[in-house]
Amino acid sequence: MVRQLCIIGVGLIGGSIARAARQAGLCQRIIGYGRPDDLHNLKSAKALGVIDDYCLDLATAVQDADMVIIATPVGAITHILTALRPLWSAQTVYTDVGSTKGNVIQALATVFGDVPDNFIPAHPIAGAERSGVEAAKADLFHNKRLIITPLAHTRTDCLGQVQAFWRGLGALVSSMDAQHHDRVFAATSHLPHVLAFVLVDMLGHRDEQEEIFKYAAGGFKDFTRIASSDPAMWLDICSANQKELVPLLDKLQCELDNIRQMLVEDDRQKLFATFMYARNARQRFLQQFEGIMSKSSTFYVQPGGQLKGIARVPGDKSMSHRSIMLGSLAEGTTHVKGFLEAEDALATLQAFRDMGVVIEGPVNGEVTIHGVGKHGLQAPKNDLYLGNSGTSMRLLSGLLAGQPFNSVLTGDKSLSGRPMKRVTDPLAHMGADIKTTENGTAPLYITGKAGQMQGIHYEMPIASAQVKSCLMLAGMYAQGETSITEPAPTRDHTERMLAGFSYPVKKEGSTVNINADGKLLACDIDVPSDISSAAFFLVGASIAPGSDITLQHVGINPTRTGVIDILRLMGANITVSNERVVGGEPVADLHVVYSPLKGIDIPEELVPLAIDEFPVLFVAAACAEGQTRLSGAEELRVKESDRIQVMADGLQLLGVDAQPTPDGMVIQGGNPIGGGTVVSHGDHRIAMAFSIAGLRAHAPITILDCANVNTSFPEFKSIAIHLGLDLVSEES
Ligand code: S3P
Repeated sequence: MVRQLCIIGVGLIGGSIARAARQAGLCQRIIGYGRPDDLHNLKSAKALGVIDDYCLDLATAVQDADMVIIATPVGAITHILTALRPLWSAQTVYTDVGSTKGNVIQALATVFGDVPDNFIPAHPIAGAERSGVEAAKADLFHNKRLIITPLAHTRTDCLGQVQAFWRGLGALVSSMDAQHHDRVFAATSHLPHVLAFVLVDMLGHRDEQEEIFKYAAGGFKDFTRIASSDPAMWLDICSANQKELVPLLDKLQCELDNIRQMLVEDDRQKLFATFMYARNARQRFLQQFEGIMSKSSTFYVQPGGQLKGIARVPGDKSMSHRSIMLGSLAEGTTHVKGFLEAEDALATLQAFRDMGVVIEGPVNGEVTIHGVGKHGLQAPKNDLYLGNSGTSMRLLSGLLAGQPFNSVLTGDKSLSGRPMKRVTDPLAHMGADIKTTENGTAPLYITGKAGQMQGIHYEMPIASAQVKSCLMLAGMYAQGETSITEPAPTRDHTERMLAGFSYPVKKEGSTVNINADGKLLACDIDVPSDISSAAFFLVGASIAPGSDITLQHVGINPTRTGVIDILRLMGANITVSNERVVGGEPVADLHVVYSPLKGIDIPEELVPLAIDEFPVLFVAAACAEGQTRLSGAEELRVKESDRIQVMADGLQLLGVDAQPTPDGMVIQGGNPIGGGTVVSHGDHRIAMAFSIAGLRAHAPITILDCANVNTSFPEFKSIAIHLGLDLVSEES
């Protein structure tokens, strides 16, 4: 809480700070200061209620202030500091909002001899097209970044106060050193402004003869929007940061020369690669930006209803991952249709782009991969961030173990808590060098062991397709044979897709054999709909009286159809029709009509074949007459969440008798399902499973923490609504 805040310069930024601080109840009294020629502005700030009072005399303005914020243009900083120097007080915290930080620190050093320890240099990354106090808004900084650039001797109490103040205004506060700040903003803000000004300047002069502006459409307007910014302010900023800006202009000049040359030589391939890289990079930035902005999503489901109609759920996640991996390692160009445009599969796609693979798309599920060959991957410049995706991390660890470069694999909070020893231990036997945390979790630090990996025979202690696939990919770079025996059948998409890419793989009973003698030849891949996504509606239609749906083009690989078998054992009415083979994978349409379900003991051999479908199968069990018992499924405890505990907690909250066991659950079904608020713990399949439970609930269900539905099934909400579920979501 600030007793008295003095704002020097009450324009858009200063005024918005005042409005936001007042709204958040962060200070008792706000005094504005300005020069005499600013009187009109200060008067309107007071009339608008932005400030309590103003002062044209600096000494009086700062006299009783416990915080002073300098919100003038950066060019005025030396002048203001010089005037402040005789008034400086150790009891006051001073800060600023300048877009450049090196020059502020330089000015402080010049005026004071040394930078005072109670000055906190800060920069809010926010603005508006309009300027002046009339445009000031209380929410200008909400969810926007604020960067603080403290010095080694900065007082921690003052630092803490400024951080808390900005957090109170709704900003996302971070710190970096001043030089780094200026370098980053020279590139991301100052250079683009210069470019916009220069382009409009150049074309503006020509326009007198050529009527360019008459035909200037959206692209020109978008690109030059920032040329409408205040020229005096930008003159100040660019000259304050010229040290960082000039080298960037030199670099840009080289880039322009390169592009010019490519055009002169009609080098379409190089031009394409440049444009392509830029487009993808921009999309990635936007996604990251949206990721920061939309932090949470809540689903609200109204009780009851039925599912009716026809739908096609998006592409299979497991196959989408593998299509990018194998397409990248292939010789030639691979075209993928039906690719799952969801965060997990996109994380794999990005990882391969980061290793130098040119990948076009995805556009409407179509991806074109310009394969680099089995030995063509390049060292990634940064850590490979794999988000929530266990499949990406485990499969990549095998593939990267035998490369001629090092790599680091990181993930989000959930992925960073999942066990990785199941892959790093057998890989170590093959000669891999992968460091995990003490708990055996990510980040994974991989030292590439090209030419030094040895094939092994591995009896998998758990039935895991991810472990099997990881070792197969490692086996493609190892000397001798790698053979893997699984204790129970698991999904075999890696085996099938490798065969599609003409890579030799031998299957003998429960053992798969692979070695390094082979190459991948590009092919076309048609990814069927994901049965794991279809499962939500298979269950939904089975539990909601009156339902009748058809799900088209669903992958029905026998290593994935456990959910159909289990539902049928419970009495579901599911018909498989139009069976065909597409790109080596069986596909069919699934017709589901409501039918009363009964509880069963789920056969253990079906567990690996339905491993991802248990959250929604627990919902089916809650609606089935009698007891359903699942055992042999301890793997569920180490998925994106502990799916046994999280589902049992949620079901109990809804009034269902669901008792978790170490390796499964016992559910007494058939009693009414109530309403309430359940938490998905960021697990996509938990969020979707509880949405489906709404069909049989007697009161609304609210599901918190649903943003991760985007990892596997971004269209879940729209398809669920299309089929008849009463679902709305709220993002914040
Ligand atoms: C997957 C295998 C399964 C599954 C995961 C995807 C794959 O994991 O749960 O969603 O694509 O190989 P496990 O093999 O670890 O059971």
